Amino acid sequence: MAFPTVREIMSAPQAHGACEVRGWVKTHRQSKKVSFVELSDGTTVRGLQLVIDPALSSYAACVAQVVTGAAIIARGEVIDSPAKGQRFEMKVTELHVVGEADPETYPLQKKEHTHEFLREILHFRPRSATFGAVFRVRSAAGFAVHRFFQERGFYYVHTPIISTSDCEGAGEMFHVTTLDLANVPKVNGQPDYSQDFFKEMAGLTVSGQLEAETFATALSKVYTFGPTFRAENSNTTRHLSEFWMIEPEVAFADLESNMALGEEFIKYLIRYLLDNCPEEMEFLHRTNAAEGQTLEGLRALVDSKFEALDYTDAIKILESSGEHFEFPVRWGIDLQSEHERFLTDKHIKGPVYVVNYPKEIKAFYMRVNPDGKTVRAMDMLVPRLGEIIGGSQREERYEVLLERIRELGLPEQNYWWYLDLRKFGTVPHAGFGLGFERFLMYVTGTSNIRDVTPFPRHPGFAKF
Ligand code: 4AD
Ligand code: MG
Repeated sequence: MAFPTVREIMSAPQAHGACEVRGWVKTHRQSKKVSFVELSDGTTVRGLQLVIDPALSSYAACVAQVVTGAAIIARGEVIDSPAKGQRFEMKVTELHVVGEADPETYPLQKKEHTHEFLREILHFRPRSATFGAVFRVRSAAGFAVHRFFQERGFYYVHTPIISTSDCEGAGEMFHVTTLDLANVPKVNGQPDYSQDFFKEMAGLTVSGQLEAETFATALSKVYTFGPTFRAENSNTTRHLSEFWMIEPEVAFADLESNMALGEEFIKYLIRYLLDNCPEEMEFLHRTNAAEGQTLEGLRALVDSKFEALDYTDAIKILESSGEHFEFPVRWGIDLQSEHERFLTDKHIKGPVYVVNYPKEIKAFYMRVNPDGKTVRAMDMLVPRLGEIIGGSQREERYEVLLERIRELGLPEQNYWWYLDLRKFGTVPHAGFGLGFERFLMYVTGTSNIRDVTPFPRHPGFAKF
């Protein structure tokens, strides 16, 4: 006997015929003549309807246990459904309860739950229709990331999760230590890391970029795709303490080719999901998507050309917009969410790259422009969300890079190997980071980043 998934059954051109299905009860409607069970195995938005004759002996033996949340196995025949709104149903000949669920205490009841409530039951959340769909899309997107780069001759590099260099230089690394926190050894009032596990201060990586650069200047085109961590006290709908990032890095490349790669990448991912997860995408846009977000909008985006704005021009647009912003606009400020949203939602009405930011608000590794004031940075902003990609052409000139490290007071000794790349065979090179969860929010229309993350971590929360 074959065991097809509900997805296989529902997407087949013809009724599957005799088989066995396994899954969890979503609903159970009983009547004297016929009973209906909706069975979900998490592979598709809509469950399979099981049609059961109450006189069936295996059903009669377990009817009281066929409740929402219970795990069951059903055997029977999948036939064309006479009912409206579904193509197939199963006429059940045998039913078994594998795992019971107490209907009084099972937290995931049939009724609609709020996303806030579902965040308190992360262990059951994937069983809901919305989150099942979100996480199937997440799985497909992860695959598409690899496909995009592998098709284009990029090599996948596993950069370390434990690192001693703070790539973004923002002091937001989580520390990794085995020192006894109740009795930390000290020198000159500071922790003595020479007695620690790695004999120096180590932390969880904030980005794989610096390590990826070593590989780009060896294998030419590489990418990383892994978890990154930031001890940043941002309790917003767009920030996580642990998130996944995709970071391509290309040798012999400049800002323009980097922007083109980012645009091609985003469009590829969206197209892949529209083509390969049509049911999930349609369902999420119908039931879950934030205002103004539509499937048509996504399709149009794939065919559009992304605009680019110089930071200096973006500031002028904001200054003359007539809008009242909470954070006043002037040249030199970091763009706040309200500014980004004005540019994407109102001014451009679509995604936009902002390029050439002031060097004071960007990381040390970005290439300094001839004006000495700005750097070859590029942020991709999208409607509703703001930044989803941050990238740059890197500073490949040894002297300039060293000066930047000193200017910013970064611990020079930590970057000796990064500086070495500029001493031996240096080349212009560029890369970017796409926040995987930010992208998923965008493409599924989800309002809170915690709702595209299986087990979100944010300030004050690391449960499950
Ligand atoms: O702009 P960021 O900080 O850039 C870097 O880390 C570079 N090293 C990337 C590179 O050039 N290789 O982060 C890149 C992206 C952001 O645009 C955003 O999408 C996401 O990572 N991101 C976060 N996502 C969720 N929670 C957070 N706290 C995030 N911080 C950044
Ligand atoms: Mg950034």
